[in-house]
Amino acid sequence: AEPFEGGRHCFRLEKISAYENENSNSREAASGGGRTVVIDHPLVRHKLGLMRNKETSSKDFRDLVQEVAGLMVYEVTRHLPLEEVEIETPVAKTRVFTISGKKLAIVPVLRAGLGMVEGILKLVPNAKVGHIGLYRDPDTLKPVDYYCKLPCDISEREIFVVDPMLATGGSAAAAVSHIKDRGGKKVSLVSLLAAPEGIAAFHEAHPDVDIYTAAVDSHLNDHGYIVPGLGDAGDRLFGTK
Ligand code: URA
Repeated sequence: AEPFEGGRHCFRLEKISAYENENSNSREAASGGGRTVVIDHPLVRHKLGLMRNKETSSKDFRDLVQEVAGLMVYEVTRHLPLEEVEIETPVAKTRVFTISGKKLAIVPVLRAGLGMVEGILKLVPNAKVGHIGLYRDPDTLKPVDYYCKLPCDISEREIFVVDPMLATGGSAAAAVSHIKDRGGKKVSLVSLLAAPEGIAAFHEAHPDVDIYTAAVDSHLNDHGYIVPGLGDAGDRLFGTK
């Protein structure tokens, strides 16, 4: 199957009405509140293609995850408010823009989410980093958090939950629920690849949370892998295959 990067087939979910954002390298679709924003800048698509290749080494894969995550920050932070301040250049006084005191938090979902953190921090170095770890209870099949450490002022921060693969949407939705339970208010999800099933399930659970992704692929296979996807992101990042 062909991935849905680029092209007009990007949004197959029936309830989604897609539109192109003319001045940016992203497309947005709204489904009952939460938006799905596909960041399909040519550099992102190029690097995603390299990541999908099974011959790509773990080291190169790690570097590419960081680079794509960094490129995505450009779009993910597009709405941050600016304020004007006066400064002096070597030549004259002038007014310049600065991001106005917005406090950010990055929360990777362990373990694959860790791979995206450094790439994001390069662009927003003052963001605080929380961590959340989930496992699936073998009896209830529900995600349970085994680790959760968030910045103490999480309720005042704009939060980016990072999980490279939005597959069934179960763990990303559970991570966001835990963050909301601990006071998180303004949350977005940043994934490298998403399956339509995961987008639908996630928006169902959290209609107020936007999803940013670099591509929406075809479907999930019987093992819960995204097709065509890139395999197990955690194994490829950490060489544990
Ligand atoms: N998690 C992964 O790492 N890859 C998939 O394809 C689905 C979930």
